[in-house]
Amino acid sequence: MPSTLIRNATIVTMNDRFEVVEGSVLVRDGRIARVGDAGGGPFDRTIDAAGGYLLPGFVQTHIHLCQTLFRGWADDMPLLEWLTCRVWPMEAAHTAETLRASAALASAELLLSGTTTVLTMETVHDTDVVFETMEQTGMRAVIGKCMMDSDDGVPPRLRERTAESIDESLALKKRWDGAAGGRLHAAFAPRFAVSCSRELLEAVGSLATGARTIVHTHASENRDEVEVVRRLSGGYSNLEYLNAVGLATPLLCAAHCVWVTGKEQELLAERDVKVLHCPGSNVKLGSGIAPVSDMRARGISVSLGADGAACNNRLDMFDEMRLAAALQAVRVAPGALPARDVLWMATREGAYALGLDAEIGSIEPGKRADLIVVDRGRPHVAPDRDPWSTLVYAARGTDVRMTMVDGIPLVENFSLVQQDAAEVAANARRAARTLAARAGLA
Ligand code: GUN
Ligand code: FE
Repeated sequence: MPSTLIRNATIVTMNDRFEVVEGSVLVRDGRIARVGDAGGGPFDRTIDAAGGYLLPGFVQTHIHLCQTLFRGWADDMPLLEWLTCRVWPMEAAHTAETLRASAALASAELLLSGTTTVLTMETVHDTDVVFETMEQTGMRAVIGKCMMDSDDGVPPRLRERTAESIDESLALKKRWDGAAGGRLHAAFAPRFAVSCSRELLEAVGSLATGARTIVHTHASENRDEVEVVRRLSGGYSNLEYLNAVGLATPLLCAAHCVWVTGKEQELLAERDVKVLHCPGSNVKLGSGIAPVSDMRARGISVSLGADGAACNNRLDMFDEMRLAAALQAVRVAPGALPARDVLWMATREGAYALGLDAEIGSIEPGKRADLIVVDRGRPHVAPDRDPWSTLVYAARGTDVRMTMVDGIPLVENFSLVQQDAAEVAANARRAARTLAARAGLA
C-alpha cells in the first residue's frame, strides 16, 4: 500500500488534550505514522490539504442504510405511524437490488460529508448485500440485521420466528465479522422492545455477552413508544425492562433515550450503556429533546447519528453537530453543550461506543488512517476564529475536500474517487420508484 503525506493542514487531533497542530500527517500501511512535523519522507504520494482542517473521520453511531431510498416518502408523521404506514411497508418491499442501491447511496452521501464509520441497523432480510456494498465502497461499518419477532402492525414479510432471527444474525456474524481487513463488524440489532419478544431479547443478551458483540437497538425515542413498552412488559420503564432481560451492559448501544427518567439515567451510567443521540431525527419526528447535557454530566457516553434519510432527511454529521448543541441551548441554556464537546461526541465518543477507541477517533500515531479534510476557504466559514466554532456551527458537509479510510482516499477534490456520484443518485432514483410502487406508496 502506498504511503501518503498529507501536508499543509491544521490538524485537529482530538487527542486527550484536544491539541491542534499545524503541519503534516504521514500515513503508512493504512495507519497514522507521524503527526505534525512528518519530516521529509520517505513517502509515495502527497495530498495537499490546502490549509484546511484535518480531522479524524466522523463516527455515526446510529443509522439505517436501508432507509436511504425512503427519503421524501415518509415525511411529517410521528414515530409509530411513520413506522407502520411508511417505513415497515417500504422495508418489506426491498429486494437485494434496491437494498444495494440504498446502501450505495448512503455510502456516497456519508463519505462526501466526512463520515468514515457507521453503526447501522439494517432491515430483516438480505443483510449480506449491505456488507458486500460496504466492502466495496471502502467505509468502516458495524452492521446488524434487524431482529423483530413480534407481529403487531408488521407486514408479513418482516415477521420472523425467534430462532430464525437469531440463526440469521449468527450466520452473518460468522461470515462477516472482521472482514475487509477488520473494517467490517457484525452486531445484534433487536429493533426495539415493541417489536421483540422477551425471549428474543433475553437470548440476544446472553449471546452478546458471551461473544462480546455489540447490541444495537432503539429505546425511549417517543412517549407513545414508552407507554407501549410499559404495557407489553407488565409495567417496566423501557431501560429498566432492557435491564430485566439482561441487555443493560457496556455492549448495549441504545439510540435516542429522549424520555429517560433520573433512575434510568442512573442505570445507563452504572452499566456504561452507550446512548446514540440523533437530534435531526428527534426534531423532525417531533420525538422530543434528549437530556444530553444531563446524561453527559452523569458520565454517560453520548455519541451522534443521523438515524436515516427516512426521518432526517440528511446524513450529514455537520447538521447533527450543530443541532445537538442548539437543542441543549433551547432545553437548558446556550453553552450547555459546548462546540468542542460536540466534536468529541462526533469522533472519539463514537469510536468508544463501538469499542474501536484504540483504532479510530483521533489523529495519533498507530491509529488507523480514517481522516478528512474540511476546507476553510469559503465565505460561510470566514473569518474562522476558532476550529471548534467553525466546525460545529458554520461548516457543512459540502466543505469536505478529502475523505480517507484505512489510508485509502475515497473522496478527493470534493468528489468520490471510486464511484460516480451522479450515477449512484440516478440508480437510487430508479430503485426508489420501483420500491415505492411495490410498497403501494407510489
Ligand atoms: N424505532 C423502531 N424502529 C425504528 C426506526 O427504524 N427508526 C427510528 N427512528 N426509530 C425506530
Ligand atoms: Fe433509528
